[in-house]
Amino acid sequence: MSLENIKRVCVVGAGVMGSGIVQVFAQAGYEVTMVDIAEEFLQKGLNNIRKNLDRAVAKGKMSKEEADAVLGRIKTTLSLTEGAKDADFVVEAVVEDMSVKKQVFSRLDEVCRPEVILASNTSTLSITELGSITKRPDKVVGMHFFNPAPVMKLVEIIAGMKTSPETLNTVKALAEKLGKTPVQVKDSPGFIVNRLLNPMLNEACFLIMEGVATPEEIDTAMKLGCNHPMGPCELMDLIGLDIVLAIMESLYRETGDPKFRPAPLLKKMVRAGLLGRKSGKGFYTYQ
Ligand code: CAA
Repeated sequence: MSLENIKRVCVVGAGVMGSGIVQVFAQAGYEVTMVDIAEEFLQKGLNNIRKNLDRAVAKGKMSKEEADAVLGRIKTTLSLTEGAKDADFVVEAVVEDMSVKKQVFSRLDEVCRPEVILASNTSTLSITELGSITKRPDKVVGMHFFNPAPVMKLVEIIAGMKTSPETLNTVKALAEKLGKTPVQVKDSPGFIVNRLLNPMLNEACFLIMEGVATPEEIDTAMKLGCNHPMGPCELMDLIGLDIVLAIMESLYRETGDPKFRPAPLLKKMVRAGLLGRKSGKGFYTYQ
């Protein structure tokens, strides 16, 4: 599938990343269908998008008409078949669980036309493994956006072992059309950013556990000492502690290297439901 033939996009998953990705495509002029398994998730995703567009209108960055047109290009459905059957391109952004993602990819492979590229927004899981359960591993690719998707410029383009050069070229061109900067990376746990970023976030949890410093102190140190826009604890709250844990577990499981073992505090906070902004409390409390 070449870039010119992509008009309708299906995004599977209406969470923080899924809804952000829907907004990015709709702002670039694509017709987008957002799919999830419960109406409540779809509404939450839509509210997220509305809030971002309202903020852009209030700041004078977008006219009211433009914002309405963006919303007008977004449809929602609870049916994966309905959302994917006419799509020219699919991005999967469901939970970071290989068995769930495999179910989604296997269904997409049945429903979508054979030429359609199936992309995953996975932060760390193997694109090669996802491709292997489809009949089109050459058209399975990673398209990894960063949080918040409408703001962050990078898209990691992940080449599975069988992903074709044509697929990679189309997805790179697509990322550029969305106003993003693509960086191509071979399939490997955590790709580039999460391989580097998450061990740092995990280490911040060890510092807190050991009583070396508080979340506030760690955040101030990294913002002022390294010029990071957010400290590691603020960033974990933004990403979601469950996602950070899933990434660490995947790095640890895939490599067997103890340097990637998740911090016990991170595990405990996730078990307690302290997931960050999305649950109202993580290292900090949100309204
Ligand atoms: N959704 C959409 N837009 C948002 C947003 C959100 N959640 N949060 C902020 N923005 C927009 C604002 O509207 C504002 O837009 P304009 O410039 O058009 O006015 C812009 O972002 C800047 O926001 P603010 O002025 O409110 O605040 P800020 O300057 O502190 O920036 C930030 C906020 C962009 C989030 C910045 O703090 C930042 O870059 N933080 C680091 C984020 C980061 O590292 N993300 C990567 C996480 S790792 C990941 O995603 C990979 C993974 O797989 C886990």
